[in-house]
Amino acid sequence: MFLVLCLDTNLRYTTPPKRPTNLHGKEGDAMTDTLTIARPDDWHLHFRDGDLLAETVPATANVFGRAIVMPNLNPPVNTVAQAAEYRERIMAQVPAGVSFEPLMVLYLTDSTPVEEVERAANSDFVHAFKLYPAGATTNSASGVTDPGRITHLYEAMEKHDVPLLVHGEVTDADIDIFDREKVFIDRYLNTIRSQFPALRIVFEHVTTSEGVNFVREANALTAATVTPQHLLMNRNDLLVGGVRPHNYCLPILKRRQHQEAIQKAVIDGHSRFFLGTDSAPHARNKKEAACGCAGCYSARAALPLYATFLEQHNALDKLEGFASHFGADFYRLPRHTDTVTLQRKPWDVPAVIDAAGEPVVPFFAGEQLPWSLG
Ligand code: NCD
Ligand code: ZN
Repeated sequence: MFLVLCLDTNLRYTTPPKRPTNLHGKEGDAMTDTLTIARPDDWHLHFRDGDLLAETVPATANVFGRAIVMPNLNPPVNTVAQAAEYRERIMAQVPAGVSFEPLMVLYLTDSTPVEEVERAANSDFVHAFKLYPAGATTNSASGVTDPGRITHLYEAMEKHDVPLLVHGEVTDADIDIFDREKVFIDRYLNTIRSQFPALRIVFEHVTTSEGVNFVREANALTAATVTPQHLLMNRNDLLVGGVRPHNYCLPILKRRQHQEAIQKAVIDGHSRFFLGTDSAPHARNKKEAACGCAGCYSARAALPLYATFLEQHNALDKLEGFASHFGADFYRLPRHTDTVTLQRKPWDVPAVIDAAGEPVVPFFAGEQLPWSLG
């Protein structure tokens, strides 16, 4: 397994799959042209707000049935009332005839009142709270300054059974950026996990072997989302041959051993690792800049990218669990009964997307993927 994993680190889709695999066919069947799975959900994304919603919402809703909508707007979505308004703005952009449900998330601060947890639990559209350590990523300035000090909120989430979604990085200036995730686990997450055993925790966009092991070894109420970039890339894809600003995201891409740990969890079909694109658009001039923004806009390419990765590892049969079943089960929502079909038809990811008049360079811009979405 380890050797196989090593082959595809710099995935560029030139290697033909070793054995054609069809979810609904038999091993050894002729190369399948279509792949039908239950409609997937995206358990971590950034829709942004305003005019950008006209790009981001259809891009996701045309493929995914639901999405966990990250609350790091400026100002952030702190309350159930703000989430209700944001949800309306999102719903207004869902294309006619498309069924899509945004699952709203509230942004924790040092001063989130404990009553907000109860309000969230009583609403039917807020599905989680997100812990951003202050300063960890885009629009996190009003995040939590000490994740060890909001235990009253964790207690309330545990009591009301509202999941805690974690951006698991410390932000101390003296901690190396590549160690931020591991230090967060050591310093905070192990304690939170053991103090609140009935709290559902999602370790968002896991990037390290320590993060993967944390989830593997923790109880059944512990899961992780996996992004296309952390599955397909390592830090060489960010830095070798020149800085690649469109591969810059947070948590930052790590070294290859970490990538392989993430890959293995997904190839294993581990049910507590599921799809979360972390699709996070920034205008081109904000990425290609002296101080560039973190985030990859992957909404359109994500499902073909995950399929391509799994096929290259002879594990295409793991796509449906990862994309369509495990997250729904963890969030205790019904699995979708309708389907999406991927086609084996080369698809060129656009070099640039016009998002409300702003050019956005998508993840894998200009590359050809072997799978497309019709
Ligand atoms: C996200 C964004 O731009 O909002 N950026 C990113 O690199 N992933 C924030 C986040 O999820 O960390
Ligand atoms: Zn994110």
